Amino acid sequence: MNETSSSQLPESVDVLIIGAGAAGLMCAATAGQRGRSVLVLDHANKVGKKILMSGGGRCNFTNLYTAPENFYSENPHFCKSALARYTQWDFIALVEKHGIPYHEKTLGQLFCDNKSKDIVDLLLAECRAAKAQICTRCSIQSIEALQKGYLVDTSLGRVACESLVIATGGLSIPTMGATGFGYDVARQFGLNIIPTRAALVPFTQHKRQLERQQELPGSALAVTASCGEGSFNEQMLFTHRGLSGPAVLQISSHWREGQAVEFDLAPGYDLAEWLQQRYAEKPDSHLHNVLAEIWSKKLVQHFLRRHGVDSRPLKQYGASELAAIGNRLQTWQLVPAGTEGYRTAEVTLGGVDTDCISSRTMECKTQPGLYFIGEVLDVTGWLGGYNFQWAWASGHAAGEVA
Ligand code: FDA
Repeated sequence: MNETSSSQLPESVDVLIIGAGAAGLMCAATAGQRGRSVLVLDHANKVGKKILMSGGGRCNFTNLYTAPENFYSENPHFCKSALARYTQWDFIALVEKHGIPYHEKTLGQLFCDNKSKDIVDLLLAECRAAKAQICTRCSIQSIEALQKGYLVDTSLGRVACESLVIATGGLSIPTMGATGFGYDVARQFGLNIIPTRAALVPFTQHKRQLERQQELPGSALAVTASCGEGSFNEQMLFTHRGLSGPAVLQISSHWREGQAVEFDLAPGYDLAEWLQQRYAEKPDSHLHNVLAEIWSKKLVQHFLRRHGVDSRPLKQYGASELAAIGNRLQTWQLVPAGTEGYRTAEVTLGGVDTDCISSRTMECKTQPGLYFIGEVLDVTGWLGGYNFQWAWASGHAAGEVA
């Protein structure tokens, strides 16, 4: 049995992993390769659903520049050990071993050339080689700690195990099978949970704001989005509900209700100075034509209207007036109405408190034989392949010892 939904479960295994996502499958392959008998259980009808839908169907499976600084956690040091012992280069070597074609899209983000399924197939092949068993459509009813090991009751029968690994991910996209199961298990064993919130998620805007920008959905531009200590220089996209695109998803991890987000709408330019230069070079050009060198015509019209600026030949503005227009157009401060929440969030911030977990093995410090890996932990990456790299690294760390 490798992947099945109907087989009789074994009465006992060395390692039982709950959750057949990125972290769970990596852990299964690693533990199986050490000769451990491994069973992976998942309540969904197929494994790795988030991998399949990731990266727009091409799975951004790691990032060339992965470093601990790319992760949020109450304890920023926690992720260091696992990331250092299973690096992006280790996963790239695995991708190359399986002959999967890939490319760097931007900012070190590695994507499959073909489809995300290549990564799921890689993980299943590794699990097969390691004789790890995987069983889908299996729900977990209860977990009991024994003198040594655990007894797990499931919809398909009872399984005893020496090591129990929780790899059930976070709360994002409940329609894909996400549940708070991992947090419930943590609570059952007295572990602390760092409050969770949706992250890497689009912003929503108030109805009045949306009405003012109703011609913009679909328009994109490069921005620097800043909030609190975060600042990201990437694309922003106007949508029917508000704002999305990489810059917005990234800054959403820093944003808290009621805070303003500041957008530099022309990063790399000093618009006040730039407009003066253009005035010197092309005094007869209309303001809107000059600004169309930076933004689309639709955006230019919108920005001018928002600030009540008439477009005239540059020579008709005074120098200080032109500088003031440049300054006003350059920045946009917005208090988003909210976010789209777990419905569309890529990840969940917060989770099982890493103070309760060994950073080397992912084993619970107070509950021998119980492990937490992947997104269920309070470790959340930036957008760009970092979250999968955490799943691979933490899954590997536990797989080496469980
Ligand atoms: P994951 O969510 O992958 O797996 C958890 C598994 O547990 C699932 O199979 C689920 O069915 C199962 N499960 C849950 N509750 C259960 C229960 N009660 N009983 C039994 N089984 C249960 N990251 C990245 O690095 N690059 C990318 O391109 C993307 N793209 C992306 C797109 C979208 C739309 C989303 C939603 C997310 C991403 N991500 C991403 C984030 C990435 O998918 C995520 O961080 C990892 O999948 C987390 O891996 P885990 O194995 O921890 O959880």
